Amino acid sequence: MTREKPKNLWLSRWGFILAATGSAVGLGNIWKFPYITGEYGGGAFVLMYLACILAIGIPVMMTEIALGRRGRGSPIDAIGRVVKENNGNPLWKAVGGMAMLAGFMILCFYVVVAGWAFAYTWKMLDGSLAATSVDALGQVFGEHNANPWQLGGWSVLVALLTLWIVAKGVQQGIERAVRWMMPGLALMLLVLVGYAFTSGSFGAGFDFLFSFDASKITGEALLAALGHAFFTLSLASGAILTYGSYIPDGQSITRTTFMVAFADTAVALLAGLAIFPIIFANGMSPSAGPGLIFMSLPLAFQQMPFGTLFGVLFFAMVSIAALTSAISMIEATVAYLNEKHGISRLKAAMGAGAVLLIISLLAMLSFNLLAGWTPGGQNFFDWLDYLTSRWMMPLGGIFLVLLAGYALRGEIMRDELNLPPLGYALWLFMVRYVCPVLITMVFLHALGWLGFDPIAKWYWIAGAIGALAVLGEVLRPRVVSALVDR
Ligand code: TRP
Repeated sequence: MTREKPKNLWLSRWGFILAATGSAVGLGNIWKFPYITGEYGGGAFVLMYLACILAIGIPVMMTEIALGRRGRGSPIDAIGRVVKENNGNPLWKAVGGMAMLAGFMILCFYVVVAGWAFAYTWKMLDGSLAATSVDALGQVFGEHNANPWQLGGWSVLVALLTLWIVAKGVQQGIERAVRWMMPGLALMLLVLVGYAFTSGSFGAGFDFLFSFDASKITGEALLAALGHAFFTLSLASGAILTYGSYIPDGQSITRTTFMVAFADTAVALLAGLAIFPIIFANGMSPSAGPGLIFMSLPLAFQQMPFGTLFGVLFFAMVSIAALTSAISMIEATVAYLNEKHGISRLKAAMGAGAVLLIISLLAMLSFNLLAGWTPGGQNFFDWLDYLTSRWMMPLGGIFLVLLAGYALRGEIMRDELNLPPLGYALWLFMVRYVCPVLITMVFLHALGWLGFDPIAKWYWIAGAIGALAVLGEVLRPRVVSALVDR
């Protein structure tokens, strides 16, 4: 069978690793992870999050990369080709379409949050954060958002930077950007952890992140951890699949996946070690919610030696992390337009960018002019977040593992993953049984359709996984062979 020739490939073997880490490491690691860890009570949450990365994040990421490289294209085209090779149903392409749409929708509100990070780098410098209480800083944040020109201006700046990089291409745009941004980000983070170590309450921060309180393990927290594992690894949203399609044949998907997942987790934990010691040293609460890095942290920086300098460094780091994620969210769409419709990358980026600006405008205005427009009880910004993280990513994740675990002939994935037998068996077990059961539970619980707490009744989960596995591995081959022999 002649396989599709790749149109684009990463220049170096670090290309994918840097770009995928750039996609994964973002606001999810530095903004969301610290505050949800704070809300769910520290070490117990961290442990559940690590378990979810291992049990679901890694198998799903391997699947996405393998599908992308096998099909060599945007999510829709890559899945289409793999399914065709398998003589399967072309409807599976819809999974790629949904993932692509999810990536695009995430970007529509992500530019707003990224805009906050850019704006705060500037505000740290020009003194507008020189307030003396968290309330006063809350007011600064509120005023920033109340002004559509200010909020919008910074968000549009992020969108334009993103489009500019993506328009320049995979090697000349994306790879070139991440090649210096990612090492820069790592360096900034290490400097900030060093600062927290010498000037903050490092012990208190460390204990908070790693001391384990079993009573804090709840179904609610597990669900948050699972959802976050998806989000932080950029799964089921087209990004990893599209980046995977640019990996040269012969590079190990498994090793690459582990490196990206490890780097992403390390950044989240180090961000926690940079933030919490500073929060604790200034007597603040770790559970301040989404305002943690925009309200509590700037105040903490004000009160510390060289605080302004390190504050600028912190928000510059967040801005870079957000930018390298943003470019991956629109890459799938640009790749699709470029490949399917023969539109140049520049025009594809401009077209996608025009739609992006219109939709994200509604997200920007959610904080001011349209704040009162709350169809179904939430504003447009919250709707984008809700639809993508509650529905599209879990659903996409389930369909991806079902496709790889059940619908495709075994050798397609086996070829691509190129694992030793035991490793392959483990991957297959995860995508066939563990991932679908766990993701379904999360999904149902998040919707409030599950009448019990899946952690307190963990044996239901274990039982369902076990029963499915027995059914699948022991009974199904017998049923199939009985039918075939007849
Ligand atoms: N992983 C990103 C972060 O942690 C967020 C993200 C979610 C994402 N889905 C994505 C990034 C799709 C790129 C593409 O901030």
